Formats: sequence, C-alpha cells, structure tokens
Amino acid sequence: MCGIIGYVGKEDAVSIIVEGLKKLEYRGYDSAGIAVYGASGFFDVVKQKGRLASLEAGLADNPLTACIGIGHTRWATHGEPSDINSHPHVGNQSKVAVVHNGIIENYKQLKENLEHSGIVFSSQTDSEVIAQLAEHYYNGDIMETVIKISGRLEGSYALGIMCVDEPDMLVAVKKDSPLIIGVSKNGNFIASDVPAVLKHTNEVYYLEDREIAVLTKDSVQFYDMDKQPIQKTPETITWSFDSAEKGGYEHFMLKEIMEQPKVLRDTINSATVSGECKENIENLDISRFNKIVITACGSAYNAGVVAKYVFEQLCRLSVEVELASEFRYKDAIIDSKTLVILISQSGETADTIAAMREAKSKGAFTLAIVNVVGSTIAKESDLCLYTAAGPEIAVATTKAFSTQLAILYALAVRFATSLGKLSSETENELLCEIKALPEKVTEILKHIDSIQKVASSYVGYKSIFFIGRNIDYAIALEGSLKLKEISYIHSEAYAGGELKHGTISLIEENTLVVAIANCERLYGKIMSNVEQVASRGASVLLIGSCKNDEPDERVSSIVLPDVHELFSPSLSVVALQLLSYYVAANKGLDIDKPRNLAKSVTVE
Ligand code: F6R
Repeated sequence: MCGIIGYVGKEDAVSIIVEGLKKLEYRGYDSAGIAVYGASGFFDVVKQKGRLASLEAGLADNPLTACIGIGHTRWATHGEPSDINSHPHVGNQSKVAVVHNGIIENYKQLKENLEHSGIVFSSQTDSEVIAQLAEHYYNGDIMETVIKISGRLEGSYALGIMCVDEPDMLVAVKKDSPLIIGVSKNGNFIASDVPAVLKHTNEVYYLEDREIAVLTKDSVQFYDMDKQPIQKTPETITWSFDSAEKGGYEHFMLKEIMEQPKVLRDTINSATVSGECKENIENLDISRFNKIVITACGSAYNAGVVAKYVFEQLCRLSVEVELASEFRYKDAIIDSKTLVILISQSGETADTIAAMREAKSKGAFTLAIVNVVGSTIAKESDLCLYTAAGPEIAVATTKAFSTQLAILYALAVRFATSLGKLSSETENELLCEIKALPEKVTEILKHIDSIQKVASSYVGYKSIFFIGRNIDYAIALEGSLKLKEISYIHSEAYAGGELKHGTISLIEENTLVVAIANCERLYGKIMSNVEQVASRGASVLLIGSCKNDEPDERVSSIVLPDVHELFSPSLSVVALQLLSYYVAANKGLDIDKPRNLAKSVTVE
C-alpha cells in the first residue's frame, strides 16, 4: 500500500526517483508525485492523479533538477485519488515535505487541533497532517521534530522527510510499515522495498520501528527516539537487478509464471535437502503441539487451505485455517501447544502481522513462511522458512504461491515422519514426488499455446465457477481468486458436492464451470457435478490429471501430468494461472496492476 522512495547523492535525483517508483508501482498506482530541493532554494513538487506515466508527463512539462528528493506512488485510503491528495505533502510554511506509507489512525483529532491553531489543510488525506504537524513542532532541529511527531502519530507509517533548512539531508522513520535504507558510493536511498534500489545497490539496512535514519550524500546514521546513535549492520541482497525486470515478457505475471520450475527447484532444495531451513526445522519438536492453525490472507490463505488437506492426511493432526483478518479479532483458542503457521509473500501484510502478534501473545509457537527477507513477519516469528521465489512484481501472486505450497509439502512430510506416521519408504516416495514437481511444471509450460487457445474462448463469459473435491476444491479457491482479480469476471469457487445446496440455481447458458479433477477416487463424483452443470447449459473446462474417458462435446479439457494427489495443486495452479492470464490478456487489461488492488496490503 503506497510506495515511497528518497534519494540524496551525486546523481540526478529525479530520474532515480521516477525509476524507483516504477519498481514500487505494484504497491499502489492511483497517483504519484515527487518533491525535490533544487536550485530555487524551495521545494519543487510535481504530483499527479493516475499512473506514473501521468507524473512523467507532468515532469516533461515541468522539468526538475536536483540531487535530493522524495517520491511516492499511492493506493488511496483517505481521500479519493486526485492531484491534491497525492504525495508528497508540504506544510503551509513550505518548510517540510513528507511522503507517507501507512495509515494515521488519529489524524482527525490531530487535524482538528491544528485547525484550531489556524492551520488550513488542502487535502482530505491522513498524511497531510504529518507535514503540518512537523511544521507546527519545528524548532530548527528536524530530528527533534521527527521524534516529537512520532510521539503523536497513532497507526502505521513509513516516512520520508525533507526540510528546507537542511537541503542536503533526508530523514526517515517508521512504525509498522516497511522501510529500507540503501547505501552506495554515489548516494543513499530510502525505499519501501528492495527492488526500488537494486539498480544502484544491494547493500541495505532494514529500519526497525521507531528508528530514525538520517541520510546525506556520503553518510547514513541511525538514532533511537532519545537521539542516541544506533549501530546497524547492512545486509547484502542476493536478488539480481534482472530478477525485477520483465526480461522480454509482456507482463511480469507471465514472466513469473514461467519462472516457476526454477523457483520451485530452489525452494525444494532449501527445504528438503540442506541449508538453514532444515537445521531450524530439525530443532522443532512437532510432538509438543496438539493442533496446527494456519493463518494468512488472500492467495496465501488458499495455500493454507491446500496445506490443511496435506497435513491432516500425512500427520493425522488437526489443522485449522483462518483468515488472518478474522483470526486477529476472534480470541482464538490457542496456547503453547498450538503451532501457528503464518504464510505471507511480503511478510508485511497488516492482518497477518496482527495475527502473528496475537498468536505470540497467547504463547503459541509461530512458524512463518515468507518470501521477503528481513520483513516484519520474518523477523518477529519464532521461526521463519524463506520461499526462494525472488522478487514478485505482478500484483497477482503466482510463483510465490507455488513456492509456499512446496515448503508446506516438505514441512508436512517432515512433521509426519517425526510423528512416526510415515515409513522411511513412504517418506522417500513423497520426497521424490515433491522433487519431481519442477519437471512436471515445465511439462505444462511447454503446452502454453493450447492453454492460451482454450482461454481465448472464455473471454465473453460473465460468470465463471470453479469446482473441485477435497484438495481439488482447495486449489479451485485459488483459481477463482486469480481469475477475478485480473480479468474482472465474476467468479466463485465451490466444493463440487455443495453446488446442489443453492449455487446451482446460478448455472445457465453462458456460465463456465471449471472443474478440477486430480483425485482419482473422487473422479466419478466430480464428473456427476460436471453432468449436473452441463445439463443446465453451462460450458465446462476440466483441468487435471484424471483422464476423461468419455469425450463429451460440452466439455473441454486441459490434461495435466500424473502426480501424487496431495501435491496436485502445484500442477493445477499453473494451468489456472495461465487460464486467468490469457483471459485477462485477451480482454486487454492491465494485468500486472489490476484495478483497486495493491500487492503489499500494509493497512487493515
Ligand atoms: C492475490 C494476492 C493476494 C495476497 C494477499 C497476501 O493474487 O497476491 O491475495 O496473497 O494479499 O499477501 P502476502 O502473501 O504478501 O501476505
């Protein structure tokens, strides 16, 4: 939710900030802006409603030159997307400019107080209050001002701040929203996420809550809220700059789908063969838990639903899957005998962070599966396993989801073995099946043209249902979410047997039902559902490894390689991702940045 970047150095700040914003656009894209301190001796600000292209057009009309500046790309929370509500916000005295990611929960009260002292606000945002409050407190010492405003702000914030009296200095502070500090010989950076600075540096510091960073072109210093210096160690990012580029593909989403064999292989190797993950996991005694709770949001939640089937089947241990946004408020029945598994690509999803903190406060052990190194969930959980998906830029997750599944499978096998539920022979068989997944995904990707062709015939549908039974139902949830988020076609997922309890009344001509069929023992059951919907006029697409022996002109098929039933979601999902991708591509939609969405949901 919103991306911020700042630069101070020897190079052209404007182009560096605009480039960085392009890498952060996945965080929000309804407006963007930049403020620099240039030759005028004042802030020069250009901000524009719309995509970054609008900001670039604004900058072409009004070129800026500077070596220090801050930029922002917005996902509106308070106040509609508009030029005036865009960031940066500058206080009325034109002394302080601010970019903000997060939500200021007490902004109304702060705003009222400031208005009583005569300050006139120009936007409807919560963020403007930060710039006005900073000017209100400013006494010639910007760091002291930042400390004062941090004491007044409630909610979440990552802030990039410039002050006209300190024309060579950027100040940054954060609470519950991510912020990294990049360092290079040509200048220093603040950013919401690593890809924004990767072109210039792979040396970054992760700012902790209530730490202040003070950046000049040749130095970065950190302080606590008592103005005491703090020593921090930079981390070296192993992601390459290319991994955050489209690499010749039309969309990041397609590139990321195609990367899945590689990232699956990397993740499976780290989770099953050697390395840090294995050692950490080996120290975890699963027999001390009497229940597993998995909690996450969106696709990560769907990965949890898949995992429930796998864990329960292999470990014979009860697993609950909870939406993090619900879990955090439900006073869950958990204690030190509960293993809470958190799944998050970004590691910054506000609801999942809150769920983790709730679980920890009740004494549960928290195990996180996270993609972004150094993120809040990675750092705060009791144990973190990293997916090796690399940077995922498209808003709709694909490769991160696949790597989450891979880690969950490996965990389930490990837990089942240590609980004595698997013979070493079965354990080896299952591990071989997991290790074979990248090859099988490659096989599906070889037939991408035929999936594209099938997808092109579904562009005109108004409603698409996804059905499956057991673990096929779990992955139907993800197929439906993927389709609706990028194609804007109404879609729902149902357990096949549930249709007749109400939903079947929606089935008519011009509805498409995508039936997932990998569970051999339930094949007859799902085919009965197919018959029920086809006889009511629906078109049907059958996806799975089960072969349809009785060709039916009402039913199209995407046949997947044979695979162990429990790991079949890893293959189904690739076909489902491609289906969604090509439906959306045929509609000419902005696939990497679907309307109203943002990749990292750092607000409630
Ligand atoms: C859908 C999607 C979202 C995320 C969800 C959780 O394609 O990407 O549903 O899965 O917002 O995000 P993370 O995994 O970053 O916690």
